[in-house]
Amino acid sequence: MYKRKDAYYKKAKKEGFKSRAAYKLIEINNKYQLIKKGDVVLDAGCAPGGWSQAVLTIVGKKGLVVGIDILPVEGITFHNFHFIQGNLLDAETLNKVLDISRNFDTVISDAAPNTTGQKITDHVNSLELVKTILSFAEKVLKKGGNFLFKLFDGEDRDEFIKLLKTKFSTIKIIRPDATRKSSFEIYVVCKGYKGE
Ligand SMILES: C[S@@+](CC[C@H](N)C(=O)[O-])C[C@H]1O[C@@H](n2cnc3c(N)ncnc32)[C@H](O)[C@@H]1O
Repeated sequence: MYKRKDAYYKKAKKEGFKSRAAYKLIEINNKYQLIKKGDVVLDAGCAPGGWSQAVLTIVGKKGLVVGIDILPVEGITFHNFHFIQGNLLDAETLNKVLDISRNFDTVISDAAPNTTGQKITDHVNSLELVKTILSFAEKVLKKGGNFLFKLFDGEDRDEFIKLLKTKFSTIKIIRPDATRKSSFEIYVVCKGYKGE
């Protein structure tokens, strides 16, 4: 069991972030420089909105953040935040993104399917979702763009990483400090999209 109101939870509340997850994104970005001022970023599975808030502060007024989630996102009032309520598995959602841009600098995804408690099942479901998001990313990322995603780790990871190496110049697997110790989630940083 983790303590729900841990240090990151309290910090997020105090600093006005909608989730403690915002600190994972900040930590990853400080280390890997995926997102910079003026960038156009797609946040797949963005509710309640902590990552999007963090990205909005990084890209500044000249950047753009497009967030997608099945669930609503409320209270993010930046003029350069565009929210699409929809399922990442639906073609209609991709079309709505394509209407906004086909030239994203970075796609980030903290999306995860509901967990069952069965590690293997959770890994397989998570990988399936990530594969869909990768094909989504391939349609909207510009050449040289970056992709960051969360995965519930498991045995099919290595084969997927092999595939990613054919599509991106560098790949790094990380476990941010802001991830709870009991979790088996990892984040994968892919830099330098080679193009379709
Ligand atoms: C861990 S939360 C994201 C937290 C977010 N990064 C933040 O900082 O607030 C994962 C989100 O992925 C969304 N999600 C999972 N599967 C999805 C799908 N197929 N389409 C759209 N959103 C999905 C869930 O609704 C959930 O809001």
